Amino acid sequence: MSTLTETTFKRIADIARRRWGLSLGERKMQLVANRLSSHLRKNGGGEIEDYVQRLERNPTEEDMLVLFDILSTNVTSFFRDPAHFAFLERELYTPLAKGTLAVPGRKLRLWSAACSTGAEPYSLAIQALELLPPGAGFDVKILATDLSNKALTGVREATYTEAQLTGLSPERRAKYLVRVDAPASRSVGPMWRVKDEVRRLVEIRRQNLVESYTGLGPFDVVFLRNVMIYFDRDTRHEVVMRMHSVIRPGGILAVGSAETLSGLDVPFRPAAASVYIR
Ligand SMILES: C[S@@+](CC[C@H](N)C(=O)[O-])C[C@H]1O[C@@H](n2cnc3c(N)ncnc32)[C@H](O)[C@@H]1O
Repeated sequence: MSTLTETTFKRIADIARRRWGLSLGERKMQLVANRLSSHLRKNGGGEIEDYVQRLERNPTEEDMLVLFDILSTNVTSFFRDPAHFAFLERELYTPLAKGTLAVPGRKLRLWSAACSTGAEPYSLAIQALELLPPGAGFDVKILATDLSNKALTGVREATYTEAQLTGLSPERRAKYLVRVDAPASRSVGPMWRVKDEVRRLVEIRRQNLVESYTGLGPFDVVFLRNVMIYFDRDTRHEVVMRMHSVIRPGGILAVGSAETLSGLDVPFRPAAASVYIR
């Protein structure tokens, strides 16, 4: 088996920090070694050192995206952190439905930044369908972005195994998803595809969170959840300030339940646990 030396790990960590803001501490070294070895085994073998040299010399954008997928984690689930959805119901959808809150042009714009394979943006879309009064003329769009090829393919396919649907009640599954045959090559049991009426609300794009947000926003709501844990403090600050530039005044920013903006010195005020207002 090909080995990963500490020096080579540091060179990979340097690429990850510069390109994607990822902070790979030393405790990730074994994980990275395992993932790189497995990737090389599946792709004809070779030494980790040679692979890293190739990446340093003359990488294509696709080579880099492959490395990003090797290094990143896509864990997600439907209606993850239900308190965030309860906050949106209470502070956004109920007042909108009652007419005590207005959004310009009745346009509601949400962004699932670092959306992984789609459970988050599709949960946001399902909630909007459930809570916005039909016929009231609201125009809702949910932007779903990630950098990962694996994630973007997942959102586009919008097809999940039953295990990936934890968090989605049987009622919601029956209403918003449709059962499809799993490919014969995969013994994963039944699969479920998100219906068109939900998918239609979601626009999918690639976005590196540490690169320019030109053309994005303004958003009423941004979910930036369970991604800042992979960034160092400076990157977290930079990303939150970029978010500030695309969230409208009074708009909502939700971070992961294990994440916080406290200590970052950013112009957001706390509104609930891991929820902030611009
Ligand atoms: C653990 S998942 C979180 C998914 C979802 N937000 C949730 O909370 O369930 C983290 C996601 O962040 C993405 N990610 C990490 N660094 C990124 C970057 N620099 N730009 C865009 N996406 C990034 C990964 O590809 C991954 O899909």
